Amino acid sequence: MRAWALAEWALFPLRLFLGGTFVFAGLQKLANPNFFNAQSPISIKASLVASARISPIHGLLSHLIQFATPIGIVIALSELAIGLGVLLGLWTRVAALGGALLSFSLFLTVSYHSSPFFTGADIVFLFAWLPFVVSGSGTRLSLDAKIAARTAREVGVPAPELVAIPFAKVQEICGHFHAGACSARRNEICAQSLCPVLIGVRAPLATRVTIDSIDRRTVMLGTAAVAAVGTSALILGGVVAETGRLIGGAKSPTNSTSPLSGAGSVTPSSGPSSNTPTTMPQGGVRGALLGAAKDVPKGHAATFTIPSSGEPGIVVQPTTGQFLAYNAVCPHAGCAVGYYGANDVFVCPCHGSEFRVSNGAVLNGPAPTGLTPLKVVEGSDGNLYLQ
Ligand code: FES
Repeated sequence: MRAWALAEWALFPLRLFLGGTFVFAGLQKLANPNFFNAQSPISIKASLVASARISPIHGLLSHLIQFATPIGIVIALSELAIGLGVLLGLWTRVAALGGALLSFSLFLTVSYHSSPFFTGADIVFLFAWLPFVVSGSGTRLSLDAKIAARTAREVGVPAPELVAIPFAKVQEICGHFHAGACSARRNEICAQSLCPVLIGVRAPLATRVTIDSIDRRTVMLGTAAVAAVGTSALILGGVVAETGRLIGGAKSPTNSTSPLSGAGSVTPSSGPSSNTPTTMPQGGVRGALLGAAKDVPKGHAATFTIPSSGEPGIVVQPTTGQFLAYNAVCPHAGCAVGYYGANDVFVCPCHGSEFRVSNGAVLNGPAPTGLTPLKVVEGSDGNLYLQ
C-alpha cells in the first residue's frame, strides 16, 4: 500500500535527470559560439558532415548540411524548452514527445553505429522519455496538475487528484456482493453508480458541459504558462548565447582540416584491384597517390579517401616534413574526426572524443580505442603516397 502511494514519485528522479540534462545541453550549445561556427571542428556543421557518411538518413542529412546553423539554433532552443517543460511539469507529454523525437533523430544521425548499441546515449534517452509521453508528470510538483486543480476549483468540482484507497474500504463504502445480496448495503443492490470513490462513466464527477469547460480553461491556462515560460527561456537563451560569444568568441578554434586536392580521385593505375599498390616512378615510392604535400602545410591536416576501403583518412604535418596519417573513422560510432589545430588533437564532432596526433591514442572518450594509423610518405615529386 505504501509502495502504491509512493508510485507517483517513482518517476520523479528520472524526470529531474531528463529535464536537467536537456536544459544543460541546450544552454551549453547556446553558450558555445563554436557550436554555430561552421569553421569549427566541433560545430553542428562538422557534426552533420561527420555523421552523414554513416547515417541511415544520409540523403536527408546531405541536404540539411547547408542549413546547419539554423538547425543548431533550433536544436539548442528545443532542448531548453523541453527540459524546462519537463522540470516544471508543464505540458509534460508534449515536452516528452519532443524529447523522444529529438533523441530519435540524434540516434539516427550521430549514434546509429554505436557498438554495442547501448553505448550510444540517444537510444537510452529515447526510451527514458516514453513513460512521460504516456503518463505526463503525474500530480507531484507539476504545473499541469496545479492548473488542473485550479480549473476544477473555479468550476466547482473536486480536484482531479488520485489517492490510494484499500479495496476493503471500497467494499465497505460501496457495497460487498455476498450470497446474492449486498452485505454492506444491508441487502440493497450493489449499485456501482452510487459509489462515490469510483471514477469513470459509471460515476461521473462532473457533467459533459463541466468537463468541456474544465478542458477549455485548462488549455487556456496551460497555453499562458507555456508562453510565459517560453519567453523567459528565449531571454535566458539569448543572454547565455551573448555571454558565451563575448567570453569565448576570441578563442574560437578553426578546423585545420581540408580535403587533400585530388584526394580519393587517384587510384592505382593497374592491377587486379584498387588495393594493389602502384609504382610511382616520379615519386620513387610505391603507394596510392593522395595529392600534393604542399596541400598539407605544417600544423594543418587534410582528408582523403582510403582507396582500399573507401573510408575517410586524415593526414597531418605536425613538424616540417613529418606526415602522420590515420583512418579518420571514430571507433565509437563511426563519425569522421577532424583536426583541431589550436589544441593539436583530432576531435570527433559527434560525441567529442579526442585523439593524440602523435599516435592516434584516445585522450578523451567515449571512443573505446584509438585511431588506426596509416603510412603516408612524401615522394621526391612532392606528392604524398599511401602505402
Ligand atoms: Fe561518438 Fe566519435 S562517433 S565520439
